[in-house]
Amino acid sequence: MSEPVQTPQTFPTRIFSGIQPSGGLTLGNYLGALKRFVQKQDEGIETVYCLVDMHAITVWQDPARLRQQTREAAAGFIAAGIDPARSILFNQSQVTAHAELAWIFNCVARMGWMGRMTQWKDKTAGKNAEAASLGLFAYPALMAADILAYKATHVPVGEDQKQHLELTRDIAIKFNNDYGVNFFPITEPVIEGAGTRVMSLRDGTKKMSKSDPSDQSRINLTDDADTISKKFRKAKTDSEPLPSDLDGLKDRPDARNLVNVYAALADMTPEAVIADYAGAQFGTFKPALADLAVAKLSPITTKMSHLMQDPAEIDRILGEGADRANAIARPIVDEVYDIIGMIRSRHV
Ligand code: AMP
Ligand code: TRP
Repeated sequence: MSEPVQTPQTFPTRIFSGIQPSGGLTLGNYLGALKRFVQKQDEGIETVYCLVDMHAITVWQDPARLRQQTREAAAGFIAAGIDPARSILFNQSQVTAHAELAWIFNCVARMGWMGRMTQWKDKTAGKNAEAASLGLFAYPALMAADILAYKATHVPVGEDQKQHLELTRDIAIKFNNDYGVNFFPITEPVIEGAGTRVMSLRDGTKKMSKSDPSDQSRINLTDDADTISKKFRKAKTDSEPLPSDLDGLKDRPDARNLVNVYAALADMTPEAVIADYAGAQFGTFKPALADLAVAKLSPITTKMSHLMQDPAEIDRILGEGADRANAIARPIVDEVYDIIGMIRSRHV
């Protein structure tokens, strides 16, 4: 056994993040991920964004729908402000380095680590875990491969991905220690702002999700202005007016969620929103929130449907992104093969 190696952060800053194209994008994806992806790009940091189609197939996906949803997600990214000239935007399966490194990480990660993942436990709770795909169990190793194939140092995500990013760090540390190298960075999660955990509009204790059976529970980025407005006006709340400070929202998850959504959409802090609406009834607050949401989301929805009229152009953008992604990931994964002792005689 080699000595544990200290791994100081001497890696250049690079952002990586991914979204599954397994359903339409939601307001949760927008506020927890996309909006923040755009901010990082606009700060001039190197940004790599991936539509993780290989993660999507860990549960059954209809092929035609998967293709359609991958294009729709790409359109959503561009409509929300991702500029394919400044960010690398591509779908995972076009860059084979992800699958290759994932296999190696399957051999680094331990069964026990995977078994402790709350997302795995949630997705198999009350169901027959024996019937889940092996890919669903190994999912976090593929996610670690996504990130580390680029030696990404920072990963903006929503709150629900925190544990997967801790596992990514564990895999990087174990790889570095096992092979006595300082090869992979210890990636930092970036979970910041009021929008990192957007809750269901029907139940403030449940995450807003594309897989919730109730469409009323979420805002889809494809919803038109009227639908967005109606969903917010009908969102579940209690009958109390808004309090004068955040403490007053402690046991009011539905109200707290709407205040957070308002804050994230308006680029304000939840404290500032409460200060503006202290004592207001939901009859006042909900229409204001609905109008704000429509103002922020409608331009994105419109641009998205416009982009979707030219699927060949979307495919071209994804292909070009994949070439640029491959140029970074290929040499990194080739070096991994060297480190672990694989003969690479075709690559001299
Ligand atoms: P997914 O749709 O599960 O692939 O998630 C893609 C990104 O969106 C991840 O960074 C998630 O953490 C984030 N995300 C998904 N749902 C929500 C939500 N309800 N609130 C905040 N972020 C979310
Ligand atoms: N698991 C993430 C989710 O469901 C998506 C994802 C896959 C991801 N690979 C990633 C996020 C790499 C960040 C970095 O939300």
